[in-house]
Amino acid sequence: MSERAVALCYGTRPQIIKASRIRRALEGLAPVLAIDTGQHYDYELNELLYRQLEVADPDLCLEVGSGSHAEQTAAILARAAAIFEERRPRAVVVIGDTNSTLGAALAAAKLRIPVVHVEAGLRAADGGMAEEINRRAVDAVAALLCTPSALATARLQRERPDAVIVETGDVARDVLMRHAGSLPDVRGLLPAGGRYAFATLHRAELTDAPGLLARALEALAALPLPVVLALHPRTRAALAAHRLTLPAGPTFSAIPAVGYLESLALAAGAQAVITDSGGLQREAYWLGTPCITLRTETEWSETVAAGANRLVPPDAPERLGMALSAALAAPRGWGRDAYGDGSAAGRIAAAVAELAGTSVTVGT
Ligand code: UD1
Repeated sequence: MSERAVALCYGTRPQIIKASRIRRALEGLAPVLAIDTGQHYDYELNELLYRQLEVADPDLCLEVGSGSHAEQTAAILARAAAIFEERRPRAVVVIGDTNSTLGAALAAAKLRIPVVHVEAGLRAADGGMAEEINRRAVDAVAALLCTPSALATARLQRERPDAVIVETGDVARDVLMRHAGSLPDVRGLLPAGGRYAFATLHRAELTDAPGLLARALEALAALPLPVVLALHPRTRAALAAHRLTLPAGPTFSAIPAVGYLESLALAAGAQAVITDSGGLQREAYWLGTPCITLRTETEWSETVAAGANRLVPPDAPERLGMALSAALAAPRGWGRDAYGDGSAAGRIAAAVAELAGTSVTVGT
């Protein structure tokens, strides 16, 4: 086995969660150079995750912090390129569609280091959305595309017939399956009576539009079911910047962002999940909790097709009530296998092994 490492780059909450399993699987194959870009740097979002998911500290932290999309992407690109030039990893693994994903992928591709894209082949109709630009660009330069679903695979077979495409399933399911049996007691976070909707809102479409954010919060507070909103630091900062206050109602409570395990426990025990998060849409689907997504579209369309997820446009939050009634009345017996079987990390590592020309047996 060569001493050259496989680099694994991550930098946001959902990426740290997924990297927890990918890193372990890759370590069975080659030395791993773990690089945290520092795109999310809140304690709530990072340190707690490292501890809860027993993720070893990264080998390097790029400490890019916040900034415009251009500043963040440029800083990650430049700092990652300097590291790749010096260390010459045999492959660079990136996850999802954040600025960290794009910066690291471009740095590697320009140095002719093979890029492995995990969560490849997802698409939204809104081609101008930051994440959509990132994911299309990374799918265009990657040598190995690891897809979460059959739909994503079929799409890439049309778009990138020259690339290696492997349908691995979604690593988020691996992480969930590993931890679902030992979730913490979250009763202290819940309203009396124990019936509630678990809500999270953090996407730029809402946090950059104070009017929409205020209406969404009011609509949550007006629902007939108590709502527990876990406040992402970005949402908290948007409230402060726009001088918005949280609704004061007997059925609405806001709590700081919670750890991954608490988030799963809250989603599992809820009557419904209301969110704009990609991760929570799938977690609700796997946990059997109906989901309402406050977006006009979702990259995880299989959850909608299965009857597990309903879309409510962010500019019509008054429709949340109707969507909630429909979600609560509908059967919950949907199939849960649209995104693999929970062994994605091992499949990704096996595909990386093949790409990097080693026949080492990989375990998860
Ligand atoms: C984000 C990107 C998405 C990309 C993905 C990369 C944004 C807006 N979206 O996904 O486009 O595909 O990264 O992998 O950046 N959770 C907590 N504590 C809480 C609330 C949620 O730990 O208080 C957990 C959830 O259980 C879930 C994860 O965080 O596991 C979801 O992370 P989130 O920050 O919502 O990002 P995504 O929208 O999933």
